[in-house]
Amino acid sequence: MSLVVIGAQWGDEGKGKITDFLAEGADVVVRYQGGNNAGHTVIANDKKYKLHLIPSGILYDDKLCIIGNGVVIDPKALLDEIEYLKNEGIRVDNKKLLISDRAHVIMPYHKKIDALSEKKRGSKDIGTTGKGIGPCYTDKHERTGIRICDLLNKEVFYERLKTNLEVKNRLIREIYEDEEMNFDEIYNTYIEYAEKLKDFITDTSVVLYDNIKEGKKVLFEGAQGTLLDIDYGTYPYVTSSHPIAGGVCIGSGIGPTMIDRVVGVCKAYTTRVGKGPFPTELFDEIGDYIREKGFEYGTTTGRARRCGWLDLVILKYAARISGLTSLAITKIDTLAGLEKIKVCTGYEFEGRVIENFPASLEDLAKCKPIYEDFDGWDESIQRAKTYEDLPENAKKYLKFIEEYTGVRISIVSVGPERENTIVVGKY
Ligand code: GDP
Ligand code: IMO
Ligand code: MG
Repeated sequence: MSLVVIGAQWGDEGKGKITDFLAEGADVVVRYQGGNNAGHTVIANDKKYKLHLIPSGILYDDKLCIIGNGVVIDPKALLDEIEYLKNEGIRVDNKKLLISDRAHVIMPYHKKIDALSEKKRGSKDIGTTGKGIGPCYTDKHERTGIRICDLLNKEVFYERLKTNLEVKNRLIREIYEDEEMNFDEIYNTYIEYAEKLKDFITDTSVVLYDNIKEGKKVLFEGAQGTLLDIDYGTYPYVTSSHPIAGGVCIGSGIGPTMIDRVVGVCKAYTTRVGKGPFPTELFDEIGDYIREKGFEYGTTTGRARRCGWLDLVILKYAARISGLTSLAITKIDTLAGLEKIKVCTGYEFEGRVIENFPASLEDLAKCKPIYEDFDGWDESIQRAKTYEDLPENAKKYLKFIEEYTGVRISIVSVGPERENTIVVGKY
């Protein structure tokens, strides 16, 4: 059985929390795209863990975690995360963590170019996390990237780094007018990283296939979200990978027939970090209320997240693009205390109503959200243990989400901890 967990909005929906909750019943947990631009906060054993590259399943002692080929790996970030987890008393060895030999490696020049290109874009910057994600995926698709398997072969790595650095240094010097990077420094450091990581490296597609064939339960943990997808997101204000369910096959090396179900994680409202369009964004005190109450500050960069009402046009879009079989609605507790809650059910565009998310950002800029109003609920929602315990108005809100999207809700999350999770139906 394999289950995919994806973000249905602009990231930070609570994928880490939901993955951690579902991981209890899984054998293998897999990351298939993105890199350490992700920030997944999980509260378990009364501790708060911040994960960036390692699947949220790592907090259990008996799960196998896989970093698939579609992920871009910053070896330093990975080694630091392993160290951090070990210091927290979590075992991390190659019985618990495997890294794909086909994954691409984030190099120091990727991070530098990420920063320099953002600076050059000026007011048109994307607001990236600065982790070198875009430049690394660029090299992958340009077919000049360095893969994990290349790191293991000193001669191959030497050659590839030499060729790459020549071009990158020219770019850095001539286009961005910045300081060149030193070959020996990078080469020596990365050879050291390879030595430290080598025991974790394998053909993870084979491991995954064998596990599925043996009947093991596999959980795929998405990073980012549908509207940050390079194809389906608000391009160019997107990341450079495929967070949608379609990304699972390419990013982990399994066929589509091996995926059974897809859970879309969706906040009870919307947030976005970084630049780009956001039709239901709130610029008033309600937006501030949600930000403070929901502690909407980035796990990776600490930036304040932009907050707004739930946008069902987006959720329906995510449901279609990823073929969602159920929804996990998170942070419904954050909305407690608001008298009225709005939900966007369509956009007014050039005198008509549209319900499909447009491709063109210029069209999107012309869209005005159409809202349906709901009565709010009180703080008692945080204590809810079952669906019946939920306030009536919250149930009405949830029912409306199901009816509009045509996707049933399997999980309602009413707080950040494992215990604050209500299973409504089959996920
Ligand atoms: P991810 O990137 O999708 O894993 O989400 P983040 O971890 O970046 O952001 C979600 C934040 O909300 C984290 O701090 C979680 O601990 C927290 N969280 C998750 N679910 C809930 C919930 O139902 N209620 C509340 N109050 N917090 C939640
Ligand atoms: P998780 O997994 C929210 C955003 C950045 C920026 C854009 C491109 O925690 O949900 P990048 O560094 O990827 O080139 O930045 O994507 N972004 C995220 N926003 N959650 C994330 O991950 C994100 N990862 C990238 O803010 O707008
Ligand atoms: Mg996050």
